[in-house]
Amino acid sequence: MSEPFYITTPIYYVNDVPHIGHAYTTVCADAIARWHRLSGRDVKFLTGTDEHGQKVSQAAAKLGRTPQEHCDITVQRFLELWQRLDIRYDDFIRTTEPRHATVVQGYLQQLWDQGLIYPDDYSGWYSTSAERFWTTQEVATAAGCTDADITSGKVPPLCPDSGTSLEWLTERNYFFRMSNYRDALLAHIDAHPGCIQPDHRRNEVLGFLRKELGDLCISRPKARLSWGIPLPFAPDYVTYVWFDALTNYVSALGTERQRYWPANVQMVGKDILTFHTVYWFSMLFALGLQPPKQVYAHGWWLMKKTKMSKSLGNVVNPNTLLDRFGSDALRYFLLREIPFGYDGDYSHESFILRFNSDLVNDYSNLVHRVGKWAHLPLPALGALTEGDAEFLAICERSVATFRREFEALQFRQALDGLWDIVRAGNKFVDTEAPWALAKAGNQTRLGQVLRIVFEAQRIVASHLACVLTQSSVEVLSRLGLSAPDLRVAFSVLPEGTVVKTGNPLFQRVDPAVEVPALDGPAEPRATLIPPAKLESPVSEPLPELPLITYDDFAKVGLRVGKIVAAARIPKADRLLQLQVDVGEEQPRQIVAGIAKVYEPEALVGQRVIVVVNLAPVKLRGVESQGMLLAGGGSDVASLLTTLHDLPPGSVVK
Ligand code: MSP
Repeated sequence: MSEPFYITTPIYYVNDVPHIGHAYTTVCADAIARWHRLSGRDVKFLTGTDEHGQKVSQAAAKLGRTPQEHCDITVQRFLELWQRLDIRYDDFIRTTEPRHATVVQGYLQQLWDQGLIYPDDYSGWYSTSAERFWTTQEVATAAGCTDADITSGKVPPLCPDSGTSLEWLTERNYFFRMSNYRDALLAHIDAHPGCIQPDHRRNEVLGFLRKELGDLCISRPKARLSWGIPLPFAPDYVTYVWFDALTNYVSALGTERQRYWPANVQMVGKDILTFHTVYWFSMLFALGLQPPKQVYAHGWWLMKKTKMSKSLGNVVNPNTLLDRFGSDALRYFLLREIPFGYDGDYSHESFILRFNSDLVNDYSNLVHRVGKWAHLPLPALGALTEGDAEFLAICERSVATFRREFEALQFRQALDGLWDIVRAGNKFVDTEAPWALAKAGNQTRLGQVLRIVFEAQRIVASHLACVLTQSSVEVLSRLGLSAPDLRVAFSVLPEGTVVKTGNPLFQRVDPAVEVPALDGPAEPRATLIPPAKLESPVSEPLPELPLITYDDFAKVGLRVGKIVAAARIPKADRLLQLQVDVGEEQPRQIVAGIAKVYEPEALVGQRVIVVVNLAPVKLRGVESQGMLLAGGGSDVASLLTTLHDLPPGSVVK
């Protein structure tokens, strides 16, 4: 049986609306899980939702629902998002499931029986919003004053997390003897430095442990918080949310605990590192279980240097990006953009920049530029020229980097390493110039060049299968493969293979249009019909064009136009009949061959560029008084729509 690999994400608060921060941890864990599956490991990938606590019951009450009804509704947001992001988890745990509550109660009873839980009176500053007690020292430190300022009432006590006012409460609670485990924790971390990563995060935990370690309050009186798992030995109390939540990583395993525990990687954001190391490891020690092999704390996605969070209202909704760019683009961006373990700033500009440069210009281009000759059956691999051998060596180096970095969770470095093949592949095509070989009738060399480029596509798409989950399947199937093949060689595709062509994997977008649209569409956006409906690739070698003078060019009257109406023309499946405002008294009627790529409704409001002095013609009986500029090959792929801010009639030159 293959080696087990168990990976987890935090379980997200079910009440929250997921943003790209949540998507980040889950995409990273999914990519690693997919990679290990690809490498033949027996993978278990767990994610889920944290469903207890006062906030959930309050939100439910406001909406007139029971807490369970509320959870059942809000959990859908996570389930749907994971589906859209192509997250392939093996299990999804909800802390309101009986399978979880049973384990939590079993563990509590065990610790109680072992004398590791005891009741005591506790006094402290209670924060309703953070659902926790703070010590006077913590409150004073956050307020930048002395303890006496707080106790004397000179400075009002405020919650260090939420800034809301605090109440001094004394109540009887139950405590877990966490202080027993300080030495064991230090010894374990010392003996297994890899168990908390990156190194700077481990040092933070060690810093925390240098101070005295107190016991952990693990209960809340039911009178104050009813939505939780009752303590089996004190039914008037429920379990503190973190004790409940952390247990999910083991409760989800059920009878498979022997096989998968301890987890190989527990991925968390740096905000919950102490819970996942100090609290979690001590709980496991007390229960006689091993701590996870590794807790990896990644950094935060920031917006203008501030943590993206719902309470600050600066979140990016992943669905907006998914609607327009699809899951591959978002998955790639999240993994590629920031070094894993560090914070990074999000902006739509950087998203689009990476999309256009890495996915469109580099990867999609490599896949499409040889599509023209795909119908030629691939010959067997011939003797390698110096250039062929050099390219193969790049592929070998690049794949080695990818593997090493990906397994070390350094996604950015891994993808950048793999892109060496993409960049070198594009250079290889430039140098070998298949169009020139075809023109010269050099079929032998053309065949070899094509085989090498298609093999490079296979190597890249196979390794990318854990990141670009959709387009990798597409590229591999065009190459006749039903599964990734990770071999680094130019002789894998069978002789005689006829590669299928298709539409561009990714198409360039205009940041001047997309950035405002992502911020909230001020004007309707033209939506492309999915590229599957396009028939030909759009990148072609430049034909030899005669030089023209500026005067020749100036003869073309180019103006900004605004589409004010659009309709299909009966029995003409390529044509749309448009009314375009070009700054004249009446809109012009223009017939454009764009019906295969644009829905008429989506075009209304678009700014386009119009040739206004073209002699009118009749197309299918409808007069066309101009022409729209568009990009693409024999089939239009995209209208030129960049001048969205200029008024109709503005000169273009
Ligand atoms: N329910 C607890 C976790 C319990 S685990 C036993 C919780 N939930 S949460 O919904 O707030 O999710 C926190 C996690 O979401 C972070 O640890 C991180 O994985 C992810 N992120 C939330 N905001 C984030 C950013 N702005 N940036 C990166 N990741 C972020 O805490």
